Amino acid sequence: MARRMLIAGNWKMNGLRQSLVFFEEICSIAGSRSDVDVLLAPPATLIFSAAEIAGPVKIGGQDCHNHPSGAHTGDISAEMLRDAGASCVIVGHSERRADHGESSDLVRSKAEAAQAAGLIPVICVGESESERRAGKAEAVVGAQLDQSLPENTAYVIAYEPVWAIGTGLTASIEDIAAMHAFIRSNLPDGPNTQILYGGSVKPDNAADILSLTDVDGALVGGASLKAADFTAIIAAAP
Ligand code: 13P
Repeated sequence: MARRMLIAGNWKMNGLRQSLVFFEEICSIAGSRSDVDVLLAPPATLIFSAAEIAGPVKIGGQDCHNHPSGAHTGDISAEMLRDAGASCVIVGHSERRADHGESSDLVRSKAEAAQAAGLIPVICVGESESERRAGKAEAVVGAQLDQSLPENTAYVIAYEPVWAIGTGLTASIEDIAAMHAFIRSNLPDGPNTQILYGGSVKPDNAADILSLTDVDGALVGGASLKAADFTAIIAAAP
């Protein structure tokens, strides 16, 4: 079966209730592209309300705890996300790996917790600028995959080179193609696993990136906060 395209928006720590009007516009575009899956990961405070109006758009969390419940003040479990209407959750985003010191082992246990709660984890990997300059990009991403992936292959991978996130820089088309092929060859169920690219995906570069054989979609940050930009990226899917 052909892998479907998935265009995912990660709102990060942005969005108030008033931002939800924007969902309607996205829903109408998502409805007109039945060949493309659309996912939005708003902040946790908006998941419940977003899920109620999302229509064909899937709703995701941006992180979950690795335990189902317990004394973990401020954390949110995968089951809670599911209960609020999410069907997916991003785990191992580089901002969580950096800001919260999350290791690949922890990311794997979060992905397992997500699967146990019935969510699809979107597992993020990606090298830093210095690692790429040192020629270590594949080694770093390979190690992240080794340590972050659960045994159950029901997950999505997002390759997000850290230096391309929020900087307006994108990896070259050749580098994206090479890294996605490398990632696919290192996955236990490579032919059937969706691999997204993330890092300054915008309407003007989306078509080129999304047309690559091993790119099955995008994980979009900044441009997912603007309805016109995000819908243009959905429309750019081949
Ligand atoms: P930008 O699209 O803002 O670079 O963010 C990418 C990202 O981190 C998505 O998770």
